[in-house]
Amino acid sequence: MTNRRKFLKIIGGGTIIAAAGAAGFMATRTPQKALAPWQPIPYEDPRKAALSYAILAPNPHNRQPWLIELIDEDRARIHRDTERELPETDPNHRQLYIGLGAFLETMVLAASAQGFNAKLTLLPEGDEGPVADASFEAGAKADPLAAHILNRHSNKEPYSDRRLQPSEASALNDYASLVLDEAKVARIRELTKRAFEIEVKTPRTLKESVDLMRIGKAEINSNPDGIELRDPMLEALRLTGLLGQDTLMNIDHPGNKAQLRDYYAMLDATPHYAVITTRTNNRRDQLDAGRQLMRLYLKTTEMGVGVHPVSQALQEYPEMAGEYALAHELLAPQGHTVQMLLRLGYGPEPIPTPRWPLETRLLNEV
Ligand SMILES: Cc1cc2nc3c(=O)[nH]c(=O)nc-3n(C[C@H](O)[C@H](O)[C@H](O)COP(=O)(O)O)c2cc1C
Repeated sequence: MTNRRKFLKIIGGGTIIAAAGAAGFMATRTPQKALAPWQPIPYEDPRKAALSYAILAPNPHNRQPWLIELIDEDRARIHRDTERELPETDPNHRQLYIGLGAFLETMVLAASAQGFNAKLTLLPEGDEGPVADASFEAGAKADPLAAHILNRHSNKEPYSDRRLQPSEASALNDYASLVLDEAKVARIRELTKRAFEIEVKTPRTLKESVDLMRIGKAEINSNPDGIELRDPMLEALRLTGLLGQDTLMNIDHPGNKAQLRDYYAMLDATPHYAVITTRTNNRRDQLDAGRQLMRLYLKTTEMGVGVHPVSQALQEYPEMAGEYALAHELLAPQGHTVQMLLRLGYGPEPIPTPRWPLETRLLNEV
């Protein structure tokens, strides 16, 4: 285990694995139950087969805001789970809809790999209503991106200074706008750090993250969502009662200070960014941005390139307004909405994050 595994990913969902501890001990602390959905069950029902991949989609704070209703023999209706929200950092549910878009794209791709066309009708008009209907028909050709769903993970590690080759950059041009210019990269890096600082120094947004922390194997296995912290040291502190809400909320605590320093160093270790914008900003645009995000993740997975969303500056709450405006000035000067900003570069192999099993996300059985 190298030092790079030591980061406490306070914001945005993440994983911590300590440098300390023998590999054998670490293996015993792996939350296998929470990671089991990464080995999908070979369902006969093509809808369930595709959905068991869709639940692996990236989503904000790993909230997994989806619920599925199976209809007749060949349809599925996707709902937003209104109990899985981020009221402080995503008050308009924009990021949740991006996660739902990623879910839909993963479902469509996984269905294609099984020879099914999942025809989507988007229904995102009312915020409480269903998000989309999918009807499954045999006869699709596999989309090659589907081959990478099980290897796709957010890469929240420091990246090396290896830059993309021009051919690599052009291979990604269809998936996102890339920021390759060093001066602009440097400005965005500073923006992401300032925005992160605002998030941790605003008690109610920090609390939203702290409330979603799952510390150690037992907590992660029983709540396979949110921000998972696998560090055995933290787990031990938690079990002995020394790592409660107060400590986690205290950004002046020496432990938290050290972790924050590491987080800034990770943000600094970023050679490029990828950006997804939309001309307007309605629910459909947000779902489309999520679909595009998933394709970007899969293409980068195929290429061995890491991506990591850094969303703080794009969040819509008053304390962030200045950085939000600057992010838009820098990344969408024509008045469009920046839906996603992602670090992009070469880093160490990322690892899977927990998921609730498909059965827990189904509203019914047919
Ligand atoms: C709309 C959106 C915003 C996100 N913002 C952040 C972020 O600001 N910081 C971060 O570390 N991860 C962010 N993520 C990544 C999620 O934390 C990640 O997808 C989730 O924890 C599941 O992990 P996985 O992508 O490795 O499967 C974001 C993902 C989405 C879809």
